[in-house]
Amino acid sequence: MCGIVGYTGRRQAAPILLDSLSRLEYRGYDSAGLAVRNGTALAEVVKATGKLYHLADKTDQGRALAGCCGIGHTRWATHGDPSVVNAHPHVSGNCSGSGSGAVESDVVGVHNGIIENYTELKDKLLRHGYAFYSDTDTEVAVKLVDYYYKKYKIGPVDAITRTMVRIRGSYALALMFKDYPDEIFAARKDSPMIIGTGEEESFLASDVPAILKYTRQVYYIGNLQVARVSPGKVAFFDLNGDENTIPLTEITWDAAAAEKGGYEHFMLKEIHEQPAAVRDTLNSIVKDGKIDLSGTGLTEETVRSVSKIDIVACGSAWHVGMAAQYVIEDLAGIPVRVELASEYRYRKIPMAEKTLVIVISQSGETADSLAALRVAKERGAETLAIVNVIGSTIAREADHVLYTLAGPEIAVATTKAYSAQLIATDVLAVYLALARGTVAEEEAAALLAELAEIPAKIERILEEKARLQWFSSKIANTHDIFFIGRGLDYAISLEGSLKMKEISYIHSEAYAAGELKHGTISLIENNTLVIGVLTQKELYEKTVSNMMECRSRGGYLMGITTNGNFSVEDSVNFTVYIPKSDEHFMASLAVVPLQLLAYYTSVNRGLDVDKPRNLAKSVTVE
Ligand code: M6R
Repeated sequence: MCGIVGYTGRRQAAPILLDSLSRLEYRGYDSAGLAVRNGTALAEVVKATGKLYHLADKTDQGRALAGCCGIGHTRWATHGDPSVVNAHPHVSGNCSGSGSGAVESDVVGVHNGIIENYTELKDKLLRHGYAFYSDTDTEVAVKLVDYYYKKYKIGPVDAITRTMVRIRGSYALALMFKDYPDEIFAARKDSPMIIGTGEEESFLASDVPAILKYTRQVYYIGNLQVARVSPGKVAFFDLNGDENTIPLTEITWDAAAAEKGGYEHFMLKEIHEQPAAVRDTLNSIVKDGKIDLSGTGLTEETVRSVSKIDIVACGSAWHVGMAAQYVIEDLAGIPVRVELASEYRYRKIPMAEKTLVIVISQSGETADSLAALRVAKERGAETLAIVNVIGSTIAREADHVLYTLAGPEIAVATTKAYSAQLIATDVLAVYLALARGTVAEEEAAALLAELAEIPAKIERILEEKARLQWFSSKIANTHDIFFIGRGLDYAISLEGSLKMKEISYIHSEAYAAGELKHGTISLIENNTLVIGVLTQKELYEKTVSNMMECRSRGGYLMGITTNGNFSVEDSVNFTVYIPKSDEHFMASLAVVPLQLLAYYTSVNRGLDVDKPRNLAKSVTVE
């Protein structure tokens, strides 16, 4: 969480920093701040609470801050409330107030992540005469660097490495030192950060889209490494202070892909990009009608010998795992366990021999998913990451990577990355089934042909969006929504419910339809909205019966079902029909109306669709 940026070069830093931060706001938007150096003058620090435009206003779009070297931050609060005092950058000086203005300070820094042992470090610094103005762990980190810098009279790199050895937790740090006017020093452990270079200028950011407008040449700074960034030049060091070499990577994807492209919100744009995201992902792993996972490095041997699969992820990616569980077990007959990464990382689950652990993540930086991946590797499992962001930490650390090709996803509520993940797991299920002989070649070919039609079917659903827009205006003031389904329909319900609650702030729950009567049905009262997902033939009547139980108690019903297969119109108040596909793949279709419903409900309630309160796109803290 939190986004950090840096610039050093010949141009004025502040406008560039603000522009880069605007592309990182998805990482947090509780407050934002800048620190800019103008040659040997003191660093000028400006901070503001709330969204980035407050900081832009406060600095006259950056024009009020002179200087060609600077760092910036957009915050998602962890330690300390979202206030100016707690906003970054933080300074090493014992200043009064919030550490802003022209501050007399040897070190100024911004941070993304959590310093777990910050209270212990703070005590140590207090004993050495440091005073603190904020509640943040970041101020402690900045002051600890300052402490080593002065105590041992060593350069910035050594002061930072000494600090890194003392700090527990995860972090990406960008620091400026008073004695090094045009340089930025950076360090990372388990939090993302990239450094870009151009003609006599360098950039630093938590994520590629932040600097794509300025350069496509980037370095992915390694874990536990330090970078010394000067205009057009970067040097990297390990914890011993020895210089390391990192290859320069050229970013080939299109910057326009990360812009709104005429849509009112990123989420709506990304919903419409799903056919392309699914098609591109499919085409990268199914070539000439044959599955080709050679890019992942998974061998036939591994695939044939897998005795168990653990799928580990968070949020919507976990919902993809829930859906994949049904598909893989049914097609390939391999037992699948789906675990929340935040639980998995601390559980002592006996690791069966030949377990394949699949970590699903859009960002490839989610702290819990990364930790779960590491735990799985420590326990000897072979690991496969299904990841969207190329070069992300999870992608780099997993044994095998299957990249989804959804392109940059900006809206906090995931849509196209979810759909790309689903299709990737569907192909994997067919691949596993083929390798293990649980489906024959012809059956596999038929399944792949069905998958190839998914993008066009999503397009057809999108053409019908006006009905969902209309229905959302009817339900916009609802207080509670229940999403129910059985089997795969339950997995789809989980995603529908999360989409709804995270952007509309309406309380919603997803329930396995048969479980409702074991307690939750007591919450159904007059006009409580119950949305039944009905795409699985064998379970259809059972779920409809559960919906009727809700109607008898006053429930207002919406059903999602397939064209021509079933008709629920007589039983429910509002029906959405979606095209038919093989039942294993219905999640890819049924989820689309649920995304649209959540989107329009949020719009109807006048909310910030792309940046819902309290959330961040990429959860890089535990
Ligand atoms: O980047 P990841 O896929 O690892 O993120 C996992 C979750 O944080 C994410 O899916 C979250 O639940 C979304 N906001 C849901 O829309």
